[in-house]
Amino acid sequence: MPDTDTRKALLEVDDVTIRFGGVSALESVSFDIKEGEILGLIGPNGAGKTTCFNVMTGVYQATSGQIRFDGRPLAKMKRFQITKLGIARTFQNIRLFKSMTALENVLVGVDANSKVGLFNALLRTPLHRRTEAESIEAAYALLDFVGVGGRANELAENLSYGDQRRLEIARAMGTRPKLLCLDEPAAGFNPAEKQRLMDLIRKVRDDGYTVLLIEHDMRLVMGVTDRVVVLEFGRKIAEGPPAEIRDDPAVIAAYLGVDDEDAS
Ligand SMILES: Nc1ncnc2c1ncn2[C@@H]1O[C@H](COP(=O)(O)OP(=O)(O)O)[C@@H](O)[C@H]1O
Ligand SMILES: [Mg+2]
Repeated sequence: MPDTDTRKALLEVDDVTIRFGGVSALESVSFDIKEGEILGLIGPNGAGKTTCFNVMTGVYQATSGQIRFDGRPLAKMKRFQITKLGIARTFQNIRLFKSMTALENVLVGVDANSKVGLFNALLRTPLHRRTEAESIEAAYALLDFVGVGGRANELAENLSYGDQRRLEIARAMGTRPKLLCLDEPAAGFNPAEKQRLMDLIRKVRDDGYTVLLIEHDMRLVMGVTDRVVVLEFGRKIAEGPPAEIRDDPAVIAAYLGVDDEDAS
């Protein structure tokens, strides 16, 4: 089918292969993410989803192929440069600064985006103080946005599991990314929390972000994404709107015998 979507591709994954020793974690994978969409990246455990995030964010270098963001090749860019360009992510296993408060965790992201520079920060110039106040305000706003505003001054480790997952999203949003990549944000959630997360992901998109969502729960994926890319053993086996993907025989076969709980 011809690509009739005329929206600009924000991220282009172009024939990417990455090998670890003899194993291909990704093999000739190509897809793109359009500006303003929620793209689902799904597939059984070990399919290569997290590896895809790692290549996109500069943790690993592709063995071959390339990734472009906003038209610029990401090859050889450092992680902080990719963050500055506008890609942020959360992790499959929560990575918060546990003995910092929720607010401080978000400030880490906000400050990574700061344009004040070390000189102003060290000398605590008026510019730095004003920016610091703005950063704190921005961090509070993000905590409110994800629904953790009431717990801003709690240590991250004292937040409930669900609040920690939402806090990770706020911290990633703090760098003001164009593309927000969420790696199984609903892992371990009950159905009510999953519903709440779906609402949050839609709200994130409506706020102007593009979202790439790795998720195992098919119902959540089907309920929230505009389009889905399916990986299996490092290869793309399907791509399309959720309703089509749900009925795709190759996708059904890939998921057969895999239940949500043991597939994280
Ligand atoms: N750093 C690494 N070294 C060796 N193998 C890896 C590494 N990272 C991922 N892999 C392998 O790549 C494959 C895909 O893993 P991953 O991307 O984590 O899958 P998913 O997120 O879809 O469950 C797996 O076989 C995994 O063991
Ligand atoms: Mg993974």
